[in-house]
Amino acid sequence: MKILVVGSGAREHALAWKLGREPGVGEVVCAPGNAGSRQVARRHALDVSDPAAILALADGEAADLTVIGPELPLALGVQDLFAARDRLLFGPSRVAAQLESSKAFAKDFMARHDVPSARFRVCDRADEALAAVAGPEFGFPVVIKADGLAAGKGVTVAPDRAAAEQAVRDAMLDHRFGAAGHRVVIEECLVGEEASFFAICDGRQAVGLPTAQDHKRAFDGDVGPNTGGMGAFAPSPLVTPDVERRIRREIVDPVLDGLAGEGHPYRGFLYVGLMLTADGPRVIEFNVRLGDPEAQVVLPMVRDDLAPLLEAAARGALETTSCDQTGEPHVGVVLASGGYPGSYETGEPIEGLDDASGLEGVLIFHAGTEVRDDTVVTTGGRVLTAVGSGVDIAEAIERAYAAEARIRFARKQVRTDIGRKALRSVPGDRSQETGDRRKPEGFASFGSDGMGRGEAGRDG
Ligand code: AMP
Ligand code: GLY
Repeated sequence: MKILVVGSGAREHALAWKLGREPGVGEVVCAPGNAGSRQVARRHALDVSDPAAILALADGEAADLTVIGPELPLALGVQDLFAARDRLLFGPSRVAAQLESSKAFAKDFMARHDVPSARFRVCDRADEALAAVAGPEFGFPVVIKADGLAAGKGVTVAPDRAAAEQAVRDAMLDHRFGAAGHRVVIEECLVGEEASFFAICDGRQAVGLPTAQDHKRAFDGDVGPNTGGMGAFAPSPLVTPDVERRIRREIVDPVLDGLAGEGHPYRGFLYVGLMLTADGPRVIEFNVRLGDPEAQVVLPMVRDDLAPLLEAAARGALETTSCDQTGEPHVGVVLASGGYPGSYETGEPIEGLDDASGLEGVLIFHAGTEVRDDTVVTTGGRVLTAVGSGVDIAEAIERAYAAEARIRFARKQVRTDIGRKALRSVPGDRSQETGDRRKPEGFASFGSDGMGRGEAGRDG
C-alpha cells in the first residue's frame, strides 16, 4: 500500500513514522513534510490549503490512501473532492468537518443529539452578544468563541463583564479573526479537568486510541499565552475505564449516529476535547484530526498496525472498536523557538539530534525544520517534539527531558513541567490530599490547563 500523508508538523512526522514501519505499507509520501519526515518518507512540495493540488498529487502518486493531518483541507472539502474521483482518503467530509470549522454548527448539532456540553447561545450581531454576556444567563466567568477556524486563538474565558465585552468587540467589531469571528458562541464556563479522547471513525463505529492531556500555555505552571501545545502525555490518568465508557456512550456514539442519521457519516480521526466535570464528561470542542503534540505521544502507544485501520475506516468498514496499546506512558516535550507563540527567529542550526534520538525509550519528531547546506535548521515556532516512554510516567518524563537536553539551538524555549501533573495521580502523593476546592468529585486533583484560570492555579 502506498500512503500519502498531508501536513508538515510533528503530528504528520509521527503518522509517517508509524505507517512507514508497517509491513503492509510499501511507501509513504509526506507532503510537504519536514527534515524529520524526510527520514521515513519521500517528500513532495504541496500547498495544503489547495484541495485540488492534494488530489492532483494523490493521482500523480497513485496513492492507495491519503491521510490528512491538519483541519484546513478537510474544512475546504478535500474529502468530497477525493470521493467524487473515487480516490480513498481518510478524513471527514466538508459538512462533517464543521464539527471543528464552525463552533455554532458543533453546538447546534450537540443540542440536537443530546451530547453533553456547555449551555450556549449563538450570536450573529454584536448588540445581541453584548446583551448576552451582560445579562444573567451565563454569569462569570463566561466563554466567548469565534465561530470559525482562528488558529487556536478564537476562545476567551472572560473573568468579568469588561473582559467579556472586550472579547465580543475584538471578534465582531474589530474583526480580529476576520470572517471567523463575525458570528460568536457565548458559553457557560465549565469547571473541572481537561483531557482528550481520540478515535478512528468509519461512520458507524470508532476504534478508541490512547487518551491524552496537553499543555497549551507557553510557560511552566500553565501561565502565559495560549499556544498550539507545548507538550502532552498519554494516557490521561483522569480517563478511567468507567469515564471512557461514559465518553463513548454519551458522546462518541451519539455523534456518529447523529451525523450518519443526517446523511453525513463521520469518517476520520475524531478528537474530543473534554471537561471532566462533577456531573460527568462534557464536550469543550471537537477537532476533526489528531492533536499536535498529542499525536506524538498517542501514535507510538498503538501496537496494532495503523494502515489497515485507517483504510477500513475510510471505506466505512471497521471490523473492531479497539486496538492493542502499550501500557507504557509516553511524554512529549515541545522544543520551540524563543518568543513563540509571538514572533521568533528562524534559520538557527540544530545540534544533537542523532545523540538525542539514540537514547533508550526516545523518539524525536520534527515540526519546523528544514535541511540547508546539509544542516538541519529551525523554520517554525514549534520545532521538535522529544518523546520519552517508560515503565511509568516518571521514567517517561525523565527520558523526554534527557533527549530535550541533548538538542541545542539558539533561543530554544521549552517548558520544564510537562507531564508533572500526571505524577500527582500516583497513590500516596500528598498533592491529592490538599483539598483543591475546584476539584470535581470522583476525579483526581491536577493543575488546570485552562485558559484564563491558569494564573490562579500556578503550582509549578
Ligand atoms: P478551544 O480553542 O475550543 O480548544 O478552547 C481553548 C480552551 O478554552 C480549552 O482548552 C479550555 O481550557 C477553554 N474552554 C473552552 N470552552 C470552555 C468552557 N465552556 N468552559 C471552560 N473552559 C473552556
Ligand atoms: N494540542 C491541541 C490541538 O492539537 O488542537
